[in-house]
Amino acid sequence: MNSEMLYALRDVAGVPSHPIVFLVLGVLTFALHIAAVHVMLGGTALVLAKAFSRDPMRRRLAAAMTTTAKIAVSVAVVLGVAPLLFVQVTYDPFWYTSNVLSAWWVVGFILLLIAGYMALYFFYSRNHHLDDPQHAVRSGWSLVAALALFLVVGFIMHVLTQQMLSPEKWMEWYAPGGVIDPRGHSLHDYNLWRFGFFIALTAPVTGAWLFAYRRYLHAGHKADAPYLQWVGRLASRMLNVGGVVALVFLGGWMATLPANIAGFATSPIVLLSVALLLLTVALPTLLGQRTLNSSLGYAPFALGAVALIAVAALREVLRYDVLRGVHGYDVFTYPVHMDWYSNVLFFATFALIGGSTLAYFLAVAWKVGHTPKGQIYTPSPAIDRIGTASMWLIGLWIVQFFVVGFIVWAR
Ligand code: HEM
Repeated sequence: MNSEMLYALRDVAGVPSHPIVFLVLGVLTFALHIAAVHVMLGGTALVLAKAFSRDPMRRRLAAAMTTTAKIAVSVAVVLGVAPLLFVQVTYDPFWYTSNVLSAWWVVGFILLLIAGYMALYFFYSRNHHLDDPQHAVRSGWSLVAALALFLVVGFIMHVLTQQMLSPEKWMEWYAPGGVIDPRGHSLHDYNLWRFGFFIALTAPVTGAWLFAYRRYLHAGHKADAPYLQWVGRLASRMLNVGGVVALVFLGGWMATLPANIAGFATSPIVLLSVALLLLTVALPTLLGQRTLNSSLGYAPFALGAVALIAVAALREVLRYDVLRGVHGYDVFTYPVHMDWYSNVLFFATFALIGGSTLAYFLAVAWKVGHTPKGQIYTPSPAIDRIGTASMWLIGLWIVQFFVVGFIVWAR
């Protein structure tokens, strides 16, 4: 596949903003997606590890993580859509080809995800008293199924990402031995080091999440000292051991890069990612008891999120280097047909509607969590105003949608 062919596969409409805008948004939203994936996988794995015990502390954590995992799946799915939009705008010749080559799996992806989500909910519905060691745990198989299905879904995403980087193999995959096979039944390419790295990051990210969970409980006087200590020890172990394992996988991934791109392994973005991951692992030790007694308890997760942005950037720079350096395709030459209305609408929606609605929900959820048992939480006038403003903004958005649609239609 020569570079002219790749350029010919581009959308003739061009892109509505400079490619850098899509690349940056792709990096940021992928970091959010993968952070939610990590909490989802880590939460589910912790339930699996702790639920089948008679120990009250383990059972309490298992119950909390069931709720966390349930919510994290929906966050991971919603935040998966955003990088999907950006990758298919900037890298459409590669992304769509990769999808068509494994079309059966791309459709199956949705079914497997639905099955995984339902399996997790099934486990939840069967175990409403998970925190009570007197109650036997039921339908453990559904928890195992949920975790396995989530991993398969992630693996499909990995394969699609991997296949798009090898245009020179597409013809062989599409027509093995010269005979066309259009069914899209196969997953053609993967790198277990790369996939393993993204999955192994689950442990340190969930460790950092547990530090935040512990601080949250302590600030709301919702747990006794032994439980907080136990959660802290577990969080440290997950962060330290998991951090080392993830770095080993990153090393394996970098060592298995194709020879013509091997120099990438020591590029500044890789070194920055490693440094930030190491710093995230070291932070709780540096902060000591302050992770429990002050808001610095949220710092490991915040720093972990920054490290994940660096990792997402690493992934994007590698893709750019492979496609440009090896295949002569430069995403920055994509024809730009600037569409100011779409640009302003997108960023205004994101900042104003997204900002106010999220601020309202998060503020309410946060405050409810800190309300002592038995008391009813009433939002303050300031929080009420944010909620009202977000409703008005959504209303205004819907009105402009129809007004602009009508004007365009009437012209
Ligand atoms: C719930 C289970 C999921 C898991 C475990 C998962 C995991 C992953 C992993 C590990 C990657 C990185 C692959 C790599 O770079 O090698 C990834 C990438 C990605 N995922 Fe997910 N994912 C899940 C669900 C979703 C969903 C539901 C969507 C979309 C609606 C989605 C959209 C994406 C996109 C767009 C990328 C990046 C593609 C690219 O930029 O090349 N994921 N996912």
